[in-house]
Amino acid sequence: MNLFRKKSVDQLLEAAEKTGLNKKLTAIDLAALAIGSVVGTGIFVSTGEGALRAGPGVIISYIIGGITAALAAFIFAELVTMFPVAGSTYTYSYVAFGELIAWIIGWDLLLEYLVSASAVASGWSGTFVGLLKSFGITLPEAITKPPISGGIMDLPAILITAFVAWILYIGVRESATTNNIIVLVKIGVILLFLFLGFSHVKLSNLTPFAPYGWKGIMSAAAIIFFAYIGFDAVSTAAEETKNPTRDVPLGLVMAMVVILALYISVAVVLVGMVPYKTIIPDNALPGALMSIGINWGSALVATGAAVGMISTLLITLYGQIRIFMVMARDGLLPEVFSHIHPKYRTPHINTVITSLVAAIIAGFLPLDIIIELCNIGTLSVFVIVSIGILVLRVKMPNVERKFRVPAVWLVAPLTAAFSLYLMASLPWVTWLRFGIWMLVGLIIYFAYGRYHSVLNVQK
Ligand code: ALA
Repeated sequence: MNLFRKKSVDQLLEAAEKTGLNKKLTAIDLAALAIGSVVGTGIFVSTGEGALRAGPGVIISYIIGGITAALAAFIFAELVTMFPVAGSTYTYSYVAFGELIAWIIGWDLLLEYLVSASAVASGWSGTFVGLLKSFGITLPEAITKPPISGGIMDLPAILITAFVAWILYIGVRESATTNNIIVLVKIGVILLFLFLGFSHVKLSNLTPFAPYGWKGIMSAAAIIFFAYIGFDAVSTAAEETKNPTRDVPLGLVMAMVVILALYISVAVVLVGMVPYKTIIPDNALPGALMSIGINWGSALVATGAAVGMISTLLITLYGQIRIFMVMARDGLLPEVFSHIHPKYRTPHINTVITSLVAAIIAGFLPLDIIIELCNIGTLSVFVIVSIGILVLRVKMPNVERKFRVPAVWLVAPLTAAFSLYLMASLPWVTWLRFGIWMLVGLIIYFAYGRYHSVLNVQK
């Protein structure tokens, strides 16, 4: 039995033909999709934790995270134009490296999507609880905080996940138009925050710039990197794009430019307008506006952020369910994950199981632990993909690439190096959790996937 058995490019494209999805998305839709799935808990909430770890130096953390994500976006763009099919990185690695690595990537993607959905739900809860507080309603900590933080469970996080799961179950997919509107709301509230906060920026808040030194900056970078996660949602939509080879790279670049500009500006204004020590890690941006006395602005930003985060949650959970579905079709997961509801036409059992796990993680673990786990998983995917692109250049030089990463022999190793550096900045206990996670994944593969794989049955 071959652990490195591979799918061929033809097999991939043939499978894509069969899905018969509509091809109507444009570069702008894709950029909006990327912004819709990227801008969420990271910028609205984790910036606070980042600022506590790095002081005003969190600005540099945002630049480092942004460079890493932008480099990786280039790599994804080339891969997507080679294989414009659904299934994200998992699908490419089936071709580049074969089944075992594809499984490992699929298992890592669980951290990037499923655990990220939990993080978004948890961040949403912080924002929602803060919003209620601004109207004088204080929910008891027992039902808004996980056990480690002194509560029983984070009920708002569980309920929002259940709500999104229900939407996905009955098959209401966010249309490109709804997504575009939500993206405008998100960008709108960020611009409002910048506008309201800018005139309160004091240079004195920016000094000392790096109270915890480089270590603090990197520790913050390792957490706020989360804010950049999700742009590869674009690759899951490649099949539905009019002209993927042109529109995917274009959409990704547009999205990255907007996101970088917004994030770095937010970081500057946030640490400039209030002393970093006073930033509330659960509710960073609205909390800062409130502390300078602009309560209406705080409520408005919190409302926009909460609405925006629901869309991030929807896209992220949808992405995970879709990846599970592809993996089940390949035989690496039980068939029930690809079982389609007769009326709603959605993978309903998959939706229930996936959402339940996401809700449990969101309800019972604190946000920073969830985020760090999600980041280590995503960064490890970046490392494998950066190596993968080089392997494919050598092994499949003739497959058409409409978009080629310039100076790939420099860009790909640089992406891997940045990702590894960020990974190295995460605490050892995150590495330990990650190690256990990978071990469980390997056990499942060797006990199940290896024997049930469609490629195995075909032989
Ligand atoms: N990047 C996404 C967020 O910040 C996952 O919520």
